[in-house]
Amino acid sequence: MKNSNLTVSAEELERQKALCALAAELLNERFGKEPKAFVHTYGCQGNVADSERVKGLLAEMGFSFCDRPEDADFVLFNTCAVREHAEARVFGNVGALKPIKEKKKNQMIIALCGCMMQQPHIAEKIRNSYDFVNLVFGTHALYRLPELMVRLLQKGKRVFEIENEDGRIAEGLPVLRDRKFKAWEPIMYGCNNFCSYCIVPYVRGRERSRNPDLIIKETEQLIASGVKEITLLGQNVNSYGKNTEFDIDFARLLRKLNALDGDFVLRFMTSHPKDCSEDLLEAMAECDKVERHLHLPFQSGNNEILAKMNRSYTAEQYLALCQRARELMPDLTMTSDVIVGFPGETEAQFEDTLKLVEQVRFSSLFTFIYSPRKGTRAAEMDDPISHEEKTKWFSRLTKLQEKITAEQNAQLVGESFRVLIEEGGNGSLTGRSLQNFTIQFPGDEKRVGSFAGVRVKEASRWSLTGEEV
Ligand code: SAH
Ligand code: SF4
Ligand code: F3S
Repeated sequence: MKNSNLTVSAEELERQKALCALAAELLNERFGKEPKAFVHTYGCQGNVADSERVKGLLAEMGFSFCDRPEDADFVLFNTCAVREHAEARVFGNVGALKPIKEKKKNQMIIALCGCMMQQPHIAEKIRNSYDFVNLVFGTHALYRLPELMVRLLQKGKRVFEIENEDGRIAEGLPVLRDRKFKAWEPIMYGCNNFCSYCIVPYVRGRERSRNPDLIIKETEQLIASGVKEITLLGQNVNSYGKNTEFDIDFARLLRKLNALDGDFVLRFMTSHPKDCSEDLLEAMAECDKVERHLHLPFQSGNNEILAKMNRSYTAEQYLALCQRARELMPDLTMTSDVIVGFPGETEAQFEDTLKLVEQVRFSSLFTFIYSPRKGTRAAEMDDPISHEEKTKWFSRLTKLQEKITAEQNAQLVGESFRVLIEEGGNGSLTGRSLQNFTIQFPGDEKRVGSFAGVRVKEASRWSLTGEEV
């Protein structure tokens, strides 16, 4: 579909902006002071990026921000639906807000947004069992927060804005970033893949790519403002540009961004193996500012399970991709996501996952026990293996990966890397290299946000420590 049809119109965004001013007046009347907001984010970097935009809108409404719900007039949770555990945490934390709100004589506004709210059964549960929640909006309504706030303040009734849409792109929302030198930059939204276990396509709508010129312009502005690390975001960045009127794909976008002036690092996530092209690997190898790290979720090492997952590749194809990537980039590190205990998975099939992990030797893994998600195809499949059994498999997998990580870390002693210093305190700094290695070394925290050269002196199973060179 044409990008212009997928984009929220400039007039509509202007209207929302004007409503920020009205919301500011109404909030001042209601609280009699500059209101304070507490925003908490669950889930993936896509949600973090969304929260930075929500905070940008709240700042336009006159909010300042605090670190505890107790101090806030407005509490917002941006939620994640990817696994049951994530949802349970949200419900627990929302429940804990009730006594806090009562203590404040119910003057507090409580709002929930994000992926969980885009599921009708969850929104119903909030409607019926959490009457102290005032405002609920789904992922597609984010840019309309000013309008929803005004409606809530003027009418005083609870507001639920959770229509299921394919989703549109809101360009140019104000952004309040958590860190000055790091930026999350969404290049596309939604997902078309419908992996059979996954809720994301249902709550995030269809794939839509941003206009490449706007991405380039935004990146230039970020670099000019002192940003040193930009992470391009999408559920499947490899399919960026597909089915659009733009003559672009992800590999070309990377090359264009890499060519911009300035000293910065480009990262990206997530890549889907089925769309990870030779051209993308070549682009990574050519581009000196692009990370030497590829997060490429494989989910399972067994072809039958992969087919049931609807992942559209085989273990052999995945292995060939990894091999080719390392031929082109000998210093490439790889990480991945894995699901243990997909419905019907047998122990022998799980062991194919172990085999694949041994073969690829990832630097680390994000491992998950399968969690049924209402409305997905996998949730309807027979799932005879007990949770206890799956937990045993899970710990076999994590033990194997720990061993591999420790072996790899040990080999890094004596090697030097250029790192971006991300954190500091008490005379110690933490930096991250293009290969995604995190290294601790002594230094002054004033240097957070700048680059340093570091040699690894010691490696443990969990961490690398070094000194500046
Ligand atoms: N778009 C990304 C993944 C987004 S979700 C991709 O395709 O790679 C992040 C990870 O959560 C997934 O890679 C998968 O490993 C895990 N996941 C998603 N749904 C899950 C479920 N129902 N149960 C367990 N893990 C799940
Ligand atoms: Fe979910 Fe698959 Fe889309 Fe990733 S690619 S978000 S796992 S459906
Ligand atoms: Fe969770 Fe939504 Fe991200 S379900 S993983 S916050 S896209």
